[in-house]
Amino acid sequence: MSRVRYAVIGHPVAHSLSPRIHAAFGQQTGIALEYTAIDAGCGRFDAVLAEFAAEGGRGANVTLPHKARAAAICQHLSERARRAGAVNTLVRTNTGWEGDNTDGAGLVRDLTERHGQDLRGRRALLIGAGGAAHGVAPALLDAGVEDLFIVNRTGSHVDALADALGEPGRVHPRYLSDVGTLGVFDLVINATSAARVGTPLDLPGGLFAPRGDAVDLSYGEAAIGFLSWARASGADRTIDGLGMLVEQAAESFLRWHGVHPDTDPVYAMLREQQDVLVTAD
Ligand code: ATR
Repeated sequence: MSRVRYAVIGHPVAHSLSPRIHAAFGQQTGIALEYTAIDAGCGRFDAVLAEFAAEGGRGANVTLPHKARAAAICQHLSERARRAGAVNTLVRTNTGWEGDNTDGAGLVRDLTERHGQDLRGRRALLIGAGGAAHGVAPALLDAGVEDLFIVNRTGSHVDALADALGEPGRVHPRYLSDVGTLGVFDLVINATSAARVGTPLDLPGGLFAPRGDAVDLSYGEAAIGFLSWARASGADRTIDGLGMLVEQAAESFLRWHGVHPDTDPVYAMLREQQDVLVTAD
């Protein structure tokens, strides 16, 4: 029997951990699947996806820089994908593609189940208003965060995100340059691409409440700068995005195969490999 095809589509995508994660989930659950990484440079997403569908593609994860484009081509969007304005999970239907977004659920599951956090009533700061911030903000509100301050370098981007979230009483868009005037936070989340594009974030001290935690949605080298700054600034716990990556993959796996895999062994395997990589040079 030929294996059904799944893939992660992005650019760059060669170093994506998703093929390893989905192979491990498939092995664990006894589901035969083929999951590959497909590079689609800017402007090539539609053509690459059409080719993938023609070759039997049944589901795909979408990563940078195509999450907004993926949302635009879907015949149907889940409620959470619609609120995020971005799709990271595509499901093939008889009539085209259905889009979902599992990033926010992945982050919340990692924070609450793996790290034992209770997000209810917390005063949270989300830094960034791009695709990553759009993906996680609705889930943070759904998880019961009391106040969500969102700061961004470009004002129009953060205003657009706040408008899309539509909860003016709880969501507070601000300029990044004003971040030092907003008080202290129980949770500070870095959703910028600053480290990836090589222009470090410039943040003041004094942002963490007692027992306030820091989260970077990136992992590996890209998370080191922000999490080191957070530790030096008095954050209690510092959490990178590796757990979120595994959890969002598990949510996608559930959409495609109807089974939620056990994420702990896969997370442990990747954590061990990441630690080796990050300390190697
Ligand atoms: P992603 O999908 O990773 O979120 P993106 O949609 O390009 O990528 O968004 C990048 C985010 O990081 C934006 O919020 C961007 O700020 P602007 O909206 O002002 O461009 C933010 N960002 C990138 N580099 C930054 C830096 N050096 N300092 C502050 N914010 C930065």
